[in-house]
Order: sequence, then C-alpha cells, then structure tokens
Amino acid sequence: MTTERIIPDKHSHEVRFFQVPGKIDPFISTISLYYLCAMLIKPTLIKAAEAAGKVLQQYYGSDFQISNKEGINNLVTEADHAAEKLIMEIIREEYPDHYILSEESGDMPSASKYKWIIDPLDGTVNFAHGLPICCVSIGVEYDGEMLMGAVYNPFFNEFYFAQKGYGATLNDRRLGVSGETEVSKACLVTGFPYTYLDQPNGPLEVFSRLIRKGVPVRRLGSAAMDLCWVAAGRFDGFFEHKLNAWDSAAGFLIVEEAGGRVSDFSGKRYSPYQPQIASTNGKIHDELLKWIDGSIT
Ligand code: IPD
Ligand code: CA
Ligand code: CA
Repeated sequence: MTTERIIPDKHSHEVRFFQVPGKIDPFISTISLYYLCAMLIKPTLIKAAEAAGKVLQQYYGSDFQISNKEGINNLVTEADHAAEKLIMEIIREEYPDHYILSEESGDMPSASKYKWIIDPLDGTVNFAHGLPICCVSIGVEYDGEMLMGAVYNPFFNEFYFAQKGYGATLNDRRLGVSGETEVSKACLVTGFPYTYLDQPNGPLEVFSRLIRKGVPVRRLGSAAMDLCWVAAGRFDGFFEHKLNAWDSAAGFLIVEEAGGRVSDFSGKRYSPYQPQIASTNGKIHDELLKWIDGSIT
C-alpha cells in the first residue's frame, strides 16, 4: 500500500507531499504537520523579536532621530527603522521566499502561504518620550490563519508568545485571562487613533460612556501591550476603533490562546485586516459590545 506523507521543507516551509511506500503512518496528520512546521518557524520568530528588543534598548533614552508620518504626532524614530531592518534580515536569512508585511516598509507579497506581520516598535510615541510601555510585535500567518505570535517588551523583561492550539505564555509561564463577569467591575483599556474619528459611537463617545459610569478605562499607547495584558488577566477587556494589522496580529492570537475572545464590534471573529477590535476575557465580551454600540449607556 502507498500512503501520502506530508513533510515540511526546511527552506520553503510550504507543505510538500511525498509518496511513501508502506502502511498509513498514524503519526503524520494535519495536526502534527502544523506542529512540525511551527517548530521550525518558532526559533526564527523568537530570535527576531529578541534581537529587535535589544535594538530598542540601545536607542532608548538616547538622542535618536524622530520624524512625523501623517499628522504631527504619528511618529517614527531611528529605532523603529533599525529594529525593522534587523527583524527582516533575520527572517530573510532563513525564509527568503516568505511574505512580509511590516509597518515601516509596507507590503512585500510573495506566493508563500507564510506571512510575517511586523510592528518593530508598537508604542512609538511612548518610546519617543521615554515611557517604557512599548514593544516589538511579530505575528506569523499560515494560509490566512494566525499560527504564532510574539510580543516582547525588553524594558519590563516580558516576552509573550502564543502558538495556535498550544496556549500562550509570558516568559514561558502559561497565561490565562481574568474571571471578571461584569463590565461595571472590570478594568478596561483602550486606544485612540492619531487622527480624530468623528463618528457615532466613536472613540471618545464610548470612552465617556464608560467613564461617566465609573468604569476604569486606561490608555497605555501600545495596542500590542494592551492585548498581552488582557491575556495576562491584568485587564478584563480592550477595545479600539482603528488599528492596523501589525498592531494586533500577534496580540490577538495571544489573547485567544490565553482563553479570551477577540472580535470586531459586531461580534464577528477578529480579522487583523479590518480596523475594529474588542478583546476580552470572554465573560464580559457580549456586554462590552453593547457598551460600544450604545445599547447599554
Ligand atoms: C499605535 C499604538 C497605539 C494605538 C495606535 C497605534 P505605533 O502604534 O498601538 O496604542 O492607539 O492606533 O498606531 O504607531 O506606536 O506603532
Ligand atoms: Ca503599532
Ligand atoms: Ca510601530
């Protein structure tokens, strides 16, 4: 009998099909293939995030160059560019054919099913002002599904990691979301876009709705950290109206793998390619969506 055996290839990491004579091998399943491929990607992901974190540490507090993107406060620094360059070099060295989407360099498409989604420095305004709430964020997608994510804040020595189906960790310790069941008792976090969004149920309207009822809502300035702190149970929920894929790609998988829920504002399962994000411990999710759409005030 001949069975079809699937072996990941070290260099392209695309799925390869082999005809292997003999019995059907019960150990080679789609799940184990996923695991094997992921195991090959993980060291590169960790190496890239750690190396970029070191770059941020080197620049932090020094006299680095800061420039504006659009608007006066959407900043980019020398550190963003240096960290991004190093991340891309590390990925390209191992996987020259993979697709890369990175905040400062943009979209670099390829035919590969693997896509690296990079924010070399999330929380640039904090970093530029010497506030250590900032991080490197790298997500890896396979065939449109987030496979792995790493978020590294070198200033707090916090390395968050998740692999689809295998849980989330902080410095190798398993993470779990909080147990809070009511928004009125929750501690939330949000973020505001650089350009004011004047729309019904916009960022300030939702913020004031919650604040008027005495619900604590923090604003840290790093969406990736916000997500990881939901995953760690420090926040019960996070919402933001307008994010980009690189802000949330890694963090949303980290929340899901810590047992939380991530969606858009209608409750649909989250995609990093649309702007809205609601991310909670799961227990307050439906209620938080009602605060956001104004059915609870
Ligand atoms: C920003 C941060 C911030 C969020 C902004 C993002 P950046 O990313 O994640 O928390 O409110 O929308 O653009 O510019 O620091 O990489
Ligand atoms: Ca960002
Ligand atoms: Ca950034």
